Amino acid sequence: MRAASKGFFWTTAVLLFAASLADADERALDPETRFVIDEHWEIVKANCTPCHSAKLVVQTRADRETWLEMIRWMQRTQNLWTFPTETEAQILDYLAAHYAPTRSSFRRAPLSPSLMPPATSLAENRLETE
Ligand code: HEC
Repeated sequence: MRAASKGFFWTTAVLLFAASLADADERALDPETRFVIDEHWEIVKANCTPCHSAKLVVQTRADRETWLEMIRWMQRTQNLWTFPTETEAQILDYLAAHYAPTRSSFRRAPLSPSLMPPATSLAENRLETE
């Protein structure tokens, strides 16, 4: 590796590491369940851990609508009780805030096709160097 590209490598590595730290949710976790301690977490702990481990909840990532679908599914098929409307909204607020689908902090979003080189250029480059 040339010195310049080594320097680039380490700068990038350090920046990515810093970004991963900045991205981490710095709020405290409940030692018992690992739930993020934030508004409404105790309602979620009380209602979402009697039947299964909290792990099932904290390892899942979903948007609000999908969380609601999971709750409806458990209500239909797993004897989950129905919640007062306000309680349900608080549970969904909490889940959607802390267990939303994640973007990986280690990869940027894919380039838009307009920013990509024309499909033929790779093959042309190869011919030139051969
Ligand atoms: C009355 C019992 C009961 C309660 C209370 C309950 N669940 Fe479940 N839940 C289940 C059962 C049973 C399953 C299926 C478990 C399995 O497949 O091993 C399940 C599965 C899940 C799954 C996995 C779904 C999947 O697609 O894999 C998630 C996430 C989940 N529950 C979240 C919650 C949340 C959030 C709450 C609180 C709002 C909650 N559960 C409360 C019974 C319950």
